[in-house]
Order: sequence, then C-alpha cells, then structure tokens
Amino acid sequence: MFVDGDIYCKFHDKTRSMPLAIDDSATTDSPFDVDPDSSSAIRYAGMKCAPKAQSRTLAWMPGLMIQEIAAALANKTVFVTGHTGFKGSWLALWLARLGARVVGYALPPNTQPNNFTASGVRECLADHFEADVRDISALGQALYKTKPDVVLHLAAQPLVRASYADPRTTFEVNVNGTINVLDCLRTIGRPCAVVCITTDKCYENREQVWGYRETDSLGGYDPYSASKAATEIAVSSYRQSFFPFDRSLYTRVSIATARAGNVIGGGDWAADRIVTELARAAVDGRPGELRNPAALRPWQHVLEPLAGYLSLAAKMVASPSAQWCEAWNFGPLPGDELPVGALADRFFAAWGTGGWRNVGEPNQPHEAGLLKLCIDKAVGRLGWRPQWRVGEAIERTASWFRNYYADPAGAQRACLQEIAEYERAMAAGTYQHNDSTASSRAAVARAA
Ligand SMILES: NC(=O)c1ccc[n+]([C@@H]2O[C@H](COP(=O)([O-])OP(=O)(O)OC[C@H]3O[C@@H](n4cnc5c(N)ncnc54)[C@H](O)[C@@H]3O)[C@@H](O)[C@H]2O)c1
Repeated sequence: MFVDGDIYCKFHDKTRSMPLAIDDSATTDSPFDVDPDSSSAIRYAGMKCAPKAQSRTLAWMPGLMIQEIAAALANKTVFVTGHTGFKGSWLALWLARLGARVVGYALPPNTQPNNFTASGVRECLADHFEADVRDISALGQALYKTKPDVVLHLAAQPLVRASYADPRTTFEVNVNGTINVLDCLRTIGRPCAVVCITTDKCYENREQVWGYRETDSLGGYDPYSASKAATEIAVSSYRQSFFPFDRSLYTRVSIATARAGNVIGGGDWAADRIVTELARAAVDGRPGELRNPAALRPWQHVLEPLAGYLSLAAKMVASPSAQWCEAWNFGPLPGDELPVGALADRFFAAWGTGGWRNVGEPNQPHEAGLLKLCIDKAVGRLGWRPQWRVGEAIERTASWFRNYYADPAGAQRACLQEIAEYERAMAAGTYQHNDSTASSRAAVARAA
C-alpha cells in the first residue's frame, strides 16, 4: 500500500539523494507568450513558465485533433523520458504549451550545442530528473514522486552506428530501460497512459518496396534495430501479463508503442544524424559527408511523430480503451521517402549553398537500404495525418539551423513559432498534395 509522501520500499534507497529538481525561481520571461494573433479561441491551462500577466492562448480556432489533444492533456502530469534529447526537448516544449505539467527524466544532454539547453526547455518543466533509466531505484522514486497521468518513454540509445560500437549498452538502455519503466508502473499501481517510442527499424527488413504494417514481423539486423524490436516484444508481454485492459482487477495502465521514421528538424546535434552533418558542413563551408546516399528513408519533420504520440496519448486519456493499446506507425505519406543524397540536395538548395560527397566504404556496418512505413492505421483510426511535405520539412530544418547559427539565443522562440505553425496546419488541414517548395523546385531543375 502506498501512502502519499512515502516512497515504496522497493525504490527506497536512503543513501541516494533525490535527483535534481528544477529551480522553482526559473525565469518567467520566456517567449511562451508568442501569440501571433490574440483573437484566439482556446485558452491553455496554466503553465509554470507562462508570463504572469498574459493569458496563454491558441491563436486560431483549432481543428478537432489539436482541440482533442489540448483538452485531454491540459493540466495532466506527463512524465517524459529522454526530454534532454532532440525529440524529447521539442515534445516537452509542446506539452508545456498545451498546459501539461511536464516532468522530465533523462541523462544530461550529451552534445554541445543541444536543443534542451539552446531552447531553454528546463524552464518549462515542473520537475526534472537527471538520472539513468537503468537505475530502477532512481526511476521508481521519480515516477512515484511524479504520479504521472501519462508517460511518454523516449529515452534510448538511438544511433545505429553507436549500437555496433556498444551493443550491450544499447540493449540495456533500450530494452531494460523500457522494462524498468513498466515495472515501476506495475509496482506503483496507479492508472496511467503510456506510449513507448520505438522505431520504424523494429521491422524485419526485407528491402521491400511497400511500407511495413504494424502486423509485419519484427526483426533487426543491427543492435539498435534489434533492441527496439525486443522492446516491442517486452512491452507486449507486460501489456498482456500485467495490464490487460479488459480485466477490471488490474490497474488501468494502457500501453501503446509508436514506430516513427527518420526525423529531421532544428536542434538535432546527435552524432551521425544527417541534418546535423549537413548544417555543420554548410556553416563550415565544406561538403557534407554522406555514408549511404542511396539509402531510401521515410523523412518527416520532428513535429509529425510528436503529433502522433500526443494524439495517441490524448485518445488513451480521453477515451480509455483496449483499441489504443497497440503498436502505431507514424511516417510520411507515400512519396515523401527520399534517398539520403536527394535529401542533402534539397537541404543545400534551401540553405542557398553547399554540396556533399560520398564517404561510404564497402566494409562499413550494415544499414537498411530501403525502408518505408504504412501509416494507414494511424490515419484511419487515430485521425492523425502528416501536415508538412518532405520539402517543407527540409526547408524548415535548414532555416532553423541557419537562424540558430546567426542567433543562438532565438532557438526557443523558433521552436515555439514552429509548433504554433504546425498546430495551425493541423487546425486548417492544409496538407499540400503537391510539393511546391523552393527546394523541391531547385532539385527538379538540377535533375533536368
Ligand atoms: N531521431 C530519429 O530519427 C528517430 C527515429 C525513430 C525513432 N526514434 C526514437 O525516438 C527516441 C528519441 O530519439 P532522439 O532522436 O530524440 O534521440 P536523442 O539521442 O536526441 O535523445 C535521447 C534521449 O534519451 C536519453 N537517454 C539516453 N540514454 C539514457 C539512459 N541510460 N538513461 C536515461 N536517459 C537516457 C538522453 O539523455 C536523451 O534525452 C528514441 O527512443 C529513438 O529510438 C528516433
């Protein structure tokens, strides 16, 4: 039995100090008041870093999905693991904007620069734990203290090449880290909605020309992919064994997994990531170095899968049902997959200068050549859909980095502005069927 304020003995370790908590006196003059049009219709719930004197509002009448997400997650406590990373930092900013009480759990950022620091993510958090997901004691204490309504589990070793260099750590962090999250929730015994983030690489890669469906076989050649496939199996086991939705004796913990494709966007400085290399090359005035220019990937802007995770979590919170407790693909619509080299061409076209060279070697570690995702299930059942074509995603990414290197202090404002524009696209349903972006036109002209 838990008593409020107690820490369950399994996690209790008196020799450990509690992980870092955010300084409550955090700044209040953040640009969360970015509000391009004050005639807004929806008022988000109070957020710690919102300016005191101003109401936090959406600047337009949102469409159903953003409305649903805002209604379901405002004032909810959302525990985000991996919030110091690329996707997690954007997600924390977005959740805070939606009025959620955001609590982060991750290792400190491991790149310099990084979006967590650049975009001042810490100031929007209700609490912040710098700790390892492999440390079940620290994780349990953090979860017990937080009492989350929603858990979005992103923390991982997410790099294929790093997984070849250190497969054991990759499996430990990705598989055991996820098991630790679920086991803590099992022990704590409070209802909540959990979305575990895996990847499109969790499928057994057959180099097939059509997209993988959620029912396709799991697999994984490299340790990263295999660790995420193993994570999917572990989650499925926990869901069936400990959290069966339809058995009322069990605690109502709903668990889903989300499999997204290759994500691009501002603020990604992780090693080996394609746009990181392209942006650095453009700034340094040297050719970008590509290892697999012919590899075809489903590219999408970082806000696309995040919108998917939020849609899924919102459904699980607003209308709890076994139908959400499954695996979900979040990728671009067909036609937005591009070879790595074509992505680089468009990136440099958007940047205004630059080029790339192939540094691939015959004996380099294996990486999948062809990877596509079928997103019919998320589109049909969640009502989620991609908003920005690949050309727009590339142009926004190039522009974000160009602006950052010109004015690093503007990163948070740039992220929030982009989130606001994405919400507006969701609201309006303005998905463009033709990719008429400048980078697309430039790429076509070059090909001709
Ligand atoms: N970026 C992509 O293209 C992409 C594509 C598909 C899936 N994903 C998945 O999305 C998630 C986030 O990826 P990202 O691109 O933001 O990665 P990232 O490397 O930028 O961030 C990883 C986060 O996990 C945290 N982390 C790593 N090891 C940890 C540990 N032992 N304990 C606690 N925290 C730890 C880091 O501190 C960081 O906050 C990952 O699960 C990844 O597998 C990413």
